[in-house]
Amino acid sequence: VGGVALNTFEKVAHTVPMLSLQDVFSIDELFDFDRRVRETVGDCVYSVEPKIDGLSVSLEYENGVFTRGSTRGDGQSGEDITANLYAIRSVPKKLENAPSRLEVRAEAYMPHKSFERLFNEQLENGGKLPKNPRNAAAGSLRQKNPKIASERGLDVFVFNVQLVTDKSFESHIETLDWLKSQGFNVLPFYKKSNTIDEAVEEVNRIGTLRGSLEFDIDGAVIKVDSLSKREIMGSTEKCPKWAVAFKYPPEEKETKLLDIEVSVGRTGVLTPTAVFEPVTLAGTSVSRAVLHNEDNINRLKIGIGDIAVIRKAGEIIPEVVKVAKHNSETFKMPDKCPSCGADVVREADEAAIRCVNPECPAQLIRNLTHFASRDAMDIEGLGEAVVEKLVQSGSLRKIEDIYLLTRDDLLSLDKFGDKSADNLMNAIEKSKSNELYRLIFGFGIRLIGVKAAKLLEKNYQNLDEISSKSVEEICQIDGIGEVMAQSLCNYLKMPQTVEMITALKQSGDNMQSTSTASSNIFDGKTFVLTGTLPTMTRKEAGDLIEQNGGKLSSSVSKKTDYVVAGESAGSKLTKAQSLGIAILTESELIEMLK
Ligand code: IVH
Repeated sequence: VGGVALNTFEKVAHTVPMLSLQDVFSIDELFDFDRRVRETVGDCVYSVEPKIDGLSVSLEYENGVFTRGSTRGDGQSGEDITANLYAIRSVPKKLENAPSRLEVRAEAYMPHKSFERLFNEQLENGGKLPKNPRNAAAGSLRQKNPKIASERGLDVFVFNVQLVTDKSFESHIETLDWLKSQGFNVLPFYKKSNTIDEAVEEVNRIGTLRGSLEFDIDGAVIKVDSLSKREIMGSTEKCPKWAVAFKYPPEEKETKLLDIEVSVGRTGVLTPTAVFEPVTLAGTSVSRAVLHNEDNINRLKIGIGDIAVIRKAGEIIPEVVKVAKHNSETFKMPDKCPSCGADVVREADEAAIRCVNPECPAQLIRNLTHFASRDAMDIEGLGEAVVEKLVQSGSLRKIEDIYLLTRDDLLSLDKFGDKSADNLMNAIEKSKSNELYRLIFGFGIRLIGVKAAKLLEKNYQNLDEISSKSVEEICQIDGIGEVMAQSLCNYLKMPQTVEMITALKQSGDNMQSTSTASSNIFDGKTFVLTGTLPTMTRKEAGDLIEQNGGKLSSSVSKKTDYVVAGESAGSKLTKAQSLGIAILTESELIEMLK
């Protein structure tokens, strides 16, 4: 999911095979398992645990130091993903009073919160949507950049000691308690059950918890607790005979498809959404599910009026699993843009259908709203409703028009008074001195989110320098992959983009990086900063002055050349005024640097 997957991980032979589990699907099969166990080792205690739906990994420690992490692979050998597992915060890097060798088994997973964040980020940036937390975790662990694993909020639950020296345990639960004391993130709960009836009760309880957990589980695991009894029971080539996995049926509901809505996103992609009669899943009522693209519609052979089976991926995002009863023809994606009526295109190697009309109002409204949004240019008062009115009135046709808006343009809008017009004009003016990353993110370039925009600002002096770089140069930046760099370069080279950047420069928008800009323009000049500046902290403004050769002073005197004053500036400002020293606002300071 996003970024470049690495296919070149080193092979790791597992010292202790990483066995799988035999699945059972009914309570009767649990009683059969109990019978087999008692026939071999007599009455026994079970440990009942959630079966985490993630990826099985092994973590190895030598003298308490985390030395290697690997995937399960085929159980005999897997792949070395040490760097990615190292990047997961809850994986202990050093253990206190540790045995000389320890190998534990864990499930790497993506918590629901992280999955939701990744899904929304990808939706926002036009990236590939992750199918479920398990796939997202797998994709993240296969990245060459370990930062991705940590930024995507992956986590692990440890559930087994594979190998330990200098220590002996009698039961599995004892090992889990010890692992906890060593700082491992052990399974969130595990219950000792004295009989199979108690174990079944716990399996049912875990089943009812499913919808309210913060991570996906796909079953419960019932294990013989005594380690010596486990040894007697042994294993088959693939699975231990002392444990079984009870698989819960996925919570799915049938419902009637009322409509398929097709919306046009910021990048022109047409996204179909199924609208159905509301059903309750994982505790909430759902009535819509993204159908992703034309290929998915054809795979499902879904049409309006069909009875569809719905479930929640990661217990959060509703998805259509299949059609239970076909009542109509498979839905056909429109060949005209539902917003502007222009022809749509599907590129040979893409699943998406796009409206490529640069003047499509749906795209324009989304683009402009995105540009003004909080994480981008943060223009308060320029939300979707106002943007829509300004597009309809003809005052906004492109991003750069925002800076040409007049007070009268705003006052001509329905329900727009003097105060709102002044506030919006001020917010637009203020946005001109924003950090460069906000502008870059605001452009809404496919795959370039806030993080990538910040990296670009950090690595280059200004927007012109970024525009002059090649894909190869840009993907040297740690955290920016080739596909992202290609998307950025394509965007910056488009004639409309060049035109827009020229117009934004003329309007006085900041194109300069605040983190790396440097010159000797302020050589020999002394500055004093006072008050609260609109977008920068005083420290950031001070760094900017110093990077450009200026000196900072904490008090105003005849030797002071400039005082940069923000809101609530006090005695320093009064003194500067009385000494006739030049007083600058934050945007005037940035203007001087340009
Ligand atoms: S015990 C020898 N316990 O399920 C140990 N596995 O379908 C055998 N899993 O590959 C596994 N939660 O990655 C065990 N509490 C749990 C588990 C668990 C998730 C995974 C594990 C295994 C897969 C088998």
